[in-house]
Amino acid sequence: MDIRTVGVVGCGLMGSGIAEVCARAGYATRVRELNPDLLHTGQQRIERSLQTAVERGKLEAAERDAALGRISGTTSLDDFADCDLVIEAATENPQIKRQTFTELDRICPPRTILASNTSSIPIIQMATATQRPDKVLGMHFMNPVPVMRLIEYVRTLTTSDETLETARAFGTSLGKRIIVSKDRAGFIVNFLLIPYLCEAVRMLEQGFASREDIDVGMMLGTSYPMGPLTLLDYVGLDTTLFIADILFDEFKEPRFAAPTLLRQMVTAGYLGRKTGRGFYDYGAGEQPPASR
Ligand code: CAA
Repeated sequence: MDIRTVGVVGCGLMGSGIAEVCARAGYATRVRELNPDLLHTGQQRIERSLQTAVERGKLEAAERDAALGRISGTTSLDDFADCDLVIEAATENPQIKRQTFTELDRICPPRTILASNTSSIPIIQMATATQRPDKVLGMHFMNPVPVMRLIEYVRTLTTSDETLETARAFGTSLGKRIIVSKDRAGFIVNFLLIPYLCEAVRMLEQGFASREDIDVGMMLGTSYPMGPLTLLDYVGLDTTLFIADILFDEFKEPRFAAPTLLRQMVTAGYLGRKTGRGFYDYGAGEQPPASR
């Protein structure tokens, strides 16, 4: 099956990045947000990112304009009626996701593949909210989407070979490398990443080392581009906590248990870069070691 038109549900950090890479790869791209304000903010984020790509010499100005010309915004899922593939990147709430998939199933023609960008919720929960569980899979992009080369695909018990192969060809056409996981909370990347991030917080909480030394240790000791606490600030402490809680619920293993410090920082509103404060206080001009 040929994919020509892609719908993206949500134009937040992930949705806007996904829409950008689809449009850059030549696909007619529709992106849906809940209201015009959110849509406008998301579209501005796409424009800024495309501009950065031009400034970094990754994209010609004409390609930027062509990509922008391929993206259209909407506040209604009804505008996805002719999409060949829809990628859901809405809020990480299982009920909202199930409802969105039920609606997409009603609106989209039977050929349309429905994918979720969830970072942790088992995909079968979305697949069974539709009448086409064979055409549902996980497509988990990494943040920042235009830069990170991976998409983690999640195959459920019901995903067909044809759906997986069509989606694989599509992901490759975006210039990404595809890995495939079975449908288990955390998939491959977060199953490994979240315990590592939680251990870094526990180390800080126990006063074992300073935040800078934990970060520099992993950056210079293992060539990670960012240390774990900087990465936590980048991903969002709330997002990390949410994923850790899902993993703990599923596996009941201490390595997935969120540290008290992480939970308290989320309660305090220290969510990382997006609120100006996380493990580093960006509002007060602090720079994590990765950007020094
Ligand atoms: N479009 C295209 N390319 C862009 C771009 C854009 N908008 N913005 C930057 N780039 C390119 C740059 O040109 C540069 O390319 P070269 O290496 O070829 O020169 C590259 O991207 C890196 O950009 P910068 O130099 O601006 O930034 P940096 O070197 O400081 O790296 C970073 C920034 C990519 C975020 C890096 O620090 C990094 O990889 N951090 C780790 C990110 C990570 O781990 N992400 C996954 C999080 S986990 C997740 O997402 C899953 C989940 O569910 C929680």
